[in-house]
Amino acid sequence: MSILRPGLFKDKVALVTGGATGIGRAITQELLSLDCKVVIASRKEERLHAAIQELCPNSPRLTAQVCNIRHEDQVKHLVSSMLKEHGKIDFLVNNGGGQFPSPVADMSVKGWNAVIDTNLTGTFIMCREVYRQWMCDHGGVIVNIIADMFRGFPMMAHSGAARAAVGNLTKSLSVEWAQNGVRINAVAPGSSIYSPTAASNYSDPDLFNRARAGIPMKRLGTTQEVSSAVCFLLSPGASFITGETLKVDGGSSLYSYLMWQIPEHDKLPAYSWTYKKPDTDEDDPPKAKL
Ligand code: ADE
Repeated sequence: MSILRPGLFKDKVALVTGGATGIGRAITQELLSLDCKVVIASRKEERLHAAIQELCPNSPRLTAQVCNIRHEDQVKHLVSSMLKEHGKIDFLVNNGGGQFPSPVADMSVKGWNAVIDTNLTGTFIMCREVYRQWMCDHGGVIVNIIADMFRGFPMMAHSGAARAAVGNLTKSLSVEWAQNGVRINAVAPGSSIYSPTAASNYSDPDLFNRARAGIPMKRLGTTQEVSSAVCFLLSPGASFITGETLKVDGGSSLYSYLMWQIPEHDKLPAYSWTYKKPDTDEDDPPKAKL
């Protein structure tokens, strides 16, 4: 079970980009388990379909919309149709993003721009549009998912540059939009968060195993451990926190393992819980929707 109080997000409505897979999927699951209504957005319709079937089929609590966050017109449409359907947007989680590993010397401008467009410009468009159409007048909470790029991001320099920029955008918006009742924070998962989606993105199958050496907790993190940080920041428990970036990395960004060896240990195990599909009730008539 989520560490947060059952029913905490009853009557809340969340938009989660990239909410069908990996970290986004864990966020979707935890929000649903706290009784939030969730709209997931992704470029890929099959992913959305599969997530709905697996997480919460035939219920208006989980709906989905195909949207490429790089395209302003698609984002405008996503936000306006969500407002038509649910009447509000309480939470925005900008999790959709992506990159490809490459040394900078081999990157084309096209490849560079694609990663900047998705991770930085896509996040900017999402934030701006949700703000313009809803949060400007009604407030809300935004969480941007970035990455562990604090010591540089070799082989992912485009993504590191974009994610660092989103960290800074988060700070600017926290100040600009406080007077409108908007809190906005970022969560930076370590590269050591294991999910099948992340694993399939890495060409080196042993990468996760080797990553453990650089983590003081001597284990990989889970997508649920990222999700609980996101749900905390969305919750009233974080009501005085804005413009911050919360690292969820088991201490790896602070640790130089060549200087100081930490023995293998299991003193800081993961907090994990099993997702249970929500029951639909009388007030919640089944309505298939994609
Ligand atoms: N996830 C990765 N890239 C995306 C994009 N361009 N739009 C929406 N979700 C995404």
